[in-house]
Amino acid sequence: MNLSIHGIRRSYGRVHALTGIDLELEQGMFGLLGPNGAGKTTFLRILVGLVRPDAGSVRVDGEDVTREPGRTNLRRRLGYLPQEFGFYPELTAAQFLDYMAVLKEMDDASARRRCVREVLELVGLSGDADRKLKGFSGGMRRRVGIAQALLADPDLLIVDEPTAGLDPEERIRLRNLLTGLATDRLVILSTHIVEDISQTCRNLALLTAGEVAYEGGVADFVDAANGAVWELRMPDGANPPAGWTQVAAVPEAGGVRYRLVGEGAPAPTAITQPASLEDAYVWHMRAKRRMCQ
Ligand SMILES: Nc1ncnc2c1ncn2[C@@H]1O[C@H](COP(=O)(O)OP(=O)(O)OP(=O)(O)O)[C@@H](O)[C@H]1O
Ligand SMILES: [Mg+2]
Repeated sequence: MNLSIHGIRRSYGRVHALTGIDLELEQGMFGLLGPNGAGKTTFLRILVGLVRPDAGSVRVDGEDVTREPGRTNLRRRLGYLPQEFGFYPELTAAQFLDYMAVLKEMDDASARRRCVREVLELVGLSGDADRKLKGFSGGMRRRVGIAQALLADPDLLIVDEPTAGLDPEERIRLRNLLTGLATDRLVILSTHIVEDISQTCRNLALLTAGEVAYEGGVADFVDAANGAVWELRMPDGANPPAGWTQVAAVPEAGGVRYRLVGEGAPAPTAITQPASLEDAYVWHMRAKRRMCQ
């Protein structure tokens, strides 16, 4: 699958949520990273056809899916887990998925049962099929959310902040699930959690204030920050230098070990460190702010 996005703009009144998005996506796992309010959800809602863009096009294998008949054709190939996903607490996992399958116009009851079994298996919830959703943990609910997105065996899977609020084990489990699903699909994972991207994606886009601030490989994204990450030890009571972004401050005997991001050494005793994805995120956000000033 090839997803080709050109010139997407969308405003809500005077709020410019997206100011011109161009992206080319291919099979595999693609990370959409950005701070709160960057426009990630708006962008994904445009991709799935829930929001109309003010301008621009989204082409799937050459077909424009922002209008008919492309929109309907895409819906058949698409699975979507929204950021806010409502459940019916009194339904069991199997009943809920069956209901969602009906909404997806899967009319044959026995085919539906088979499909529900398959998606429950995929997300590791076969043993919980007949339990009510109200008894599920946050992570299990999120997996049910992924399961409903997989019902029609989509080749485009779009998940909006699926790991928010999960404990580390559930986050890892969900990440592994998504990575597995991306072997023969395009999976778009939106998140503001940097680690989710570093552990799963080869390519990402950084969205800030409705614009793509970076698009490309995760390795290059990180590389750009090499040389701008510093470790600086300072005695107790001393203030870290202003003008660098503080990523960490670890108390040590007699002082504090700071991790700072910014151009140029913050002090003669500062030592450069290899950049992590989190450092790189901070670095790219700083660069973006400088451009806007
Ligand atoms: N339905 C709406 N009506 C008015 N403004 C909206 C609407 N949806 C989004 N916005 C605004 O558009 C901007 C982008 O919001 P969006 O939800 O797309 O960001 P996001 O990156 O998904 O944020 P988060 O990480 O918090 O989920 C924000 O300024 C938001 O307030
Ligand atoms: Mg959002």
